[in-house]
Amino acid sequence: MKTIKRFGVSLEEDLFKELDLLVKKHKFPNRSQAIRFLIRQNMSEEAWQENKEVSGAVVLIYDHHKRDLVNKSLSIQHEFSHIILATQHVHLDHNSCLEIIALKGKAENLKVLSDKLIALKGIKHGKLVMS
Ligand code: NI
Repeated sequence: MKTIKRFGVSLEEDLFKELDLLVKKHKFPNRSQAIRFLIRQNMSEEAWQENKEVSGAVVLIYDHHKRDLVNKSLSIQHEFSHIILATQHVHLDHNSCLEIIALKGKAENLKVLSDKLIALKGIKHGKLVMS
């Protein structure tokens, strides 16, 4: 169990209202939870900016009938096997596949891999989730 530190926070009224809006919007149980969320979100953003060890996932939607797409995607993934934790493939319908590639490693490497995959011809949608 971690020690909880308490401190008073002074905020302008408009910021205070924004905080309460955030609590409502994200359904946080209280303001403390909202502030925890904001601090962690900031830590995560800085870790990605500073090329630290991070984790995330690439989500891809593609047509598996597109020539060479699957082969190209797999050979890129083998190049980056040191940062790939797991992949999950879902057949959405007759044509479309959804792939989730879980990653852990230096932020730059995750971005390079993600850019390479998303740029492949035949990818309908791709996004890197920076966690
Ligand atoms: Ni499929």
